Amino acid sequence: KKVVLAYSGGLDTSVIIPWLKENFDYDVIAVAVDVGQGEELDPLKEKAIKTGASKIYIEDAKKEFVEDFIFPTLKAGAIYEGKYLLGTSMARPVIAKRLVEVAEAEGAEAIAHGATGKGNDQVRFELTIKALNPHLKIIAPWRMWDIKSREEEIEYAQKRGIPIPVTKEHPYSMDRNLWHLSHEGGDLEDPANESKDDVCLIVTPPAKAPDVPTYVEIGFEKGVPKTINGKSYEPVELIEELNEIGAKNGIGIVDMVENRLVGIKSRGIYETPGGTILYLAHKELESITLDRQTSHFKEHVAQKFAELVYDGCWYTPLREALSAFVDSTQETVTGTVRMKLYKGNCTPAGIKSDYSLYDVDLATFGEEYVYNQKDAEGFINLFGLPLKVRALMMERNKKS
Ligand code: ARG
Ligand code: SIN
Repeated sequence: KKVVLAYSGGLDTSVIIPWLKENFDYDVIAVAVDVGQGEELDPLKEKAIKTGASKIYIEDAKKEFVEDFIFPTLKAGAIYEGKYLLGTSMARPVIAKRLVEVAEAEGAEAIAHGATGKGNDQVRFELTIKALNPHLKIIAPWRMWDIKSREEEIEYAQKRGIPIPVTKEHPYSMDRNLWHLSHEGGDLEDPANESKDDVCLIVTPPAKAPDVPTYVEIGFEKGVPKTINGKSYEPVELIEELNEIGAKNGIGIVDMVENRLVGIKSRGIYETPGGTILYLAHKELESITLDRQTSHFKEHVAQKFAELVYDGCWYTPLREALSAFVDSTQETVTGTVRMKLYKGNCTPAGIKSDYSLYDVDLATFGEEYVYNQKDAEGFINLFGLPLKVRALMMERNKKS
C-alpha cells in the first residue's frame, strides 16, 4: 500500500512520514513540488529517505504555475478582499495536481498533506484532489493525530531520530513561491500590533528604498506579460526579474486581516513585488483597451474569480467559464505600459496600444469635429426622464 505525501522537508511534513508508516503501514512516497520557494530542493532527496520515505520525487512546477495559474488570475484582475494577490491560493492547486499525477503513476491509494484543520490550504488541496481523481483517499494528519503543540511535535520527532531544524529568528508561519512570500502568526496575530520592519524578507521597506524613481516598461500580448523594457522573457524569468526590480523599490507589501473560508479571521503580511507591478500595469492597459461596459462587468467577474481561487475552487465549471469570459476580453489587451516605481509606489508613466479606444479627438477640450455637444441635450433629456417623472409625481402628491 502506498501513500503520496506533499513534502517540504520541514518539521511538519517530516513528522508525517513515520506517523503514516506507524498508523497505516503505508509505503510513503514523498513529493516536493517546486513552485519557486527559492530553496534548493535536491538536498531533500537524502533527507526524505533518511526520515523513512521509500521514494522521493522533486517536481518542477514553476512554468505550469505561472502559465496556467498566475497568468489566468492576473488576466482576471482577481484580488481577494481588495488586497491579497492570492499567492498561496494559486499554488495549492498546481501542487495538488502534481501529487495526483505521481499518485496515479505510482498506483498509490491515498494522498497526505500537512495543512492544519484551521486553514484554507486543506480545502484547496482536497478540492483539487477530488476534482482530478475522485478515487484517491485523503489523509490530513493534523486533523487526526494527538500532537497538539510544537513541543509535542518536537518530542515525537526526537524519539524517531528526525532532525529538528534550528529555530530561526523569524517567528512567523511563512509560505513562499515565485509570486509571493506570506507571513502569519507571532505578534501579527493581534491586529493592534504594527508589523515590524523585519517581517518582510524580500521587499525593501519603502522608506529605505532608493531616492530616485525606477522606470520599468512591460509589454503585454492578450493580457499576458511578455517583455520588460523591450526584452522578451520566459514566464518564470519575467516574474523573477520583476520581483527583483519591485523589491528594491519597496513595491508590493500588503498588511491585512482576511476572512478565511473556514470562518476565522486571520492577519497576514504579504510581499508580492513583481505581482503588484504586473497587476497595476495590466489594469492601466485595460483602461485604454476595454470599453466601459466590459470593464465594469469584468470587475464583478474579478471579485468572484478571486473568491473561487481563494476557496480552492480552481477546478470548477464556474472558474473555467469565468476564464473563458476573461480570455475573450483580453483579445485586445496588447500594448506596453511604463510604470514609475518609487518608495513603495507604482504609478503609470505612459500607456500605449494599437488597440486603444482612447480618442484624442473625442476627449479633447480643444477644438472638436467628431463630437457634437448639441447631441448631449437629447441624451440627457431621455436619460433623466425617470427622475423627472418621479419628481412630478411627488409634487402631485404633496398638493393633494
Ligand atoms: N492566508 C493566505 C491564504 O490563505 C496564506 C496562507 C499561508 N499558508 C501557509 N501554510 N503558511 O492563502
Ligand atoms: C494551514 O493552516 O495549514 C495554513 C494556513 C491556511 O491554510 O490558511
